[in-house]
Amino acid sequence: MAVINAPRGTRDILPAESWKWAYIVKTASEVMRDFGFREIHLPVFEHTELFSRGVGETTDIVEKEMYTFTDRGGRSITLRPEATAGVMRCALENNLCAQGASAKLWNWGPMFRHERPQKGRYRQFCQIDAECLGLAGPMADVEVIALSLELFRRLGLKNLEVVINSVGCEKCRPVYRQKLVEYFDAHRDSLCETCLDRLGRNPLRILDCKKEGCGAIAEGAPDIFDSLCDECREHFAQVRAGLERLVFTYRLDKRLVRGLDYYTKTAYEILSGDLGAQNAVAGGGRYDNLSSAIGGAKVPGVGFACGLDRVLLVMEEQGCTFGEAPGVSVYVAALDEDSRGAVQVLTYELRKAGISAECDTAGRSFKAQVKAAGACRFACIIGPEERERNSAAVKDMKDGTQENIPLSEAAKYIREKL
Ligand code: HAM
Repeated sequence: MAVINAPRGTRDILPAESWKWAYIVKTASEVMRDFGFREIHLPVFEHTELFSRGVGETTDIVEKEMYTFTDRGGRSITLRPEATAGVMRCALENNLCAQGASAKLWNWGPMFRHERPQKGRYRQFCQIDAECLGLAGPMADVEVIALSLELFRRLGLKNLEVVINSVGCEKCRPVYRQKLVEYFDAHRDSLCETCLDRLGRNPLRILDCKKEGCGAIAEGAPDIFDSLCDECREHFAQVRAGLERLVFTYRLDKRLVRGLDYYTKTAYEILSGDLGAQNAVAGGGRYDNLSSAIGGAKVPGVGFACGLDRVLLVMEEQGCTFGEAPGVSVYVAALDEDSRGAVQVLTYELRKAGISAECDTAGRSFKAQVKAAGACRFACIIGPEERERNSAAVKDMKDGTQENIPLSEAAKYIREKL
């Protein structure tokens, strides 16, 4: 029988990588704390409607990429393709933003999209997500962008580009949409099949098409800035001013529309030159109508998510560091068979004292144990003599010094030298 492999587009995060993940999440949790965001945990599956109404019926995510199934109770359930709709659902359900209150929340975990796997694109991937709910003003947008950039600064990422746009609101977008339909309709012959299909349903997405022909047409499309209403125009000006005050450089891109329908006003992405085709390490923006789309009262929001898998790829590429690599500090070795019991006890005592320690549990020879100790900072050796004196020979593998230390003092002695 053939061995069963992991499904296409998923991957195992093995110990050689998992400590780097932990470092990124730890750094994120510190940045979130410094910006006043509090952590939440959400279900990884939700009612399908949450995404079809929240993310949008005509998006690629909802049309083609969701892992949807009927559960045993006959309900349509979807593995979350993103976190924002779930965070908003959680805030509405738990009244976190009642009576004008605001909530700054962050979460991290796996998301699921049935996309074509390639470098930096998986079917199960991990996002770090932050959402600022109940705040309508432009300074919240600036905070979110600053937060994402601060995270990347602390992780040591270089050569990032911030791209921003305003996608308008329910007042001005229909006007712009109409202008786009007229423009693209006049260029139908040059559009790809997908864009022809988008023309009737979601013309803004044509601006985002990566195909050369469509791209050239999209370059000449009407500019959204000419269609923004006064409120959106002013909001965007304030966001830009806020970013400039913090001395962030950014590029305006009128073709940045993002793949999720809930965005209003600000949309942004952070791109890395070290990722190939899937070059977005983070994306986000404002979504003032998401709450009403999923049946709630009006709660404005702005947030972002970054792809942990991609951040890790860039960090590896750029030679970033991940804090201290995990390792065991002490190896406790038994010189003879009769010392194995004392070795077991000392190992446990060291662990209880918070010092990482290993000993042989496979009945290997002393020589093999000494070899294993080579990877540790300290080796503690117990033989007949040490047992007699209730002590261990503690060898500092860094400077080669060795001392006989009473068992009751071994943890203290090692901790001081670590
Ligand atoms: P998104 O642009 O779809 O936005 O995803 C955000 C980030 O998740 C991307 O920039 C990328 O780093 C990562 N990502 C997306 N798909 C994949 C994949 N298949 N494999 C690996 N990484 C991936 C959202 O999800 C929005 N919810 C962001 C947001 C939060 N907007 C407002 N608040």
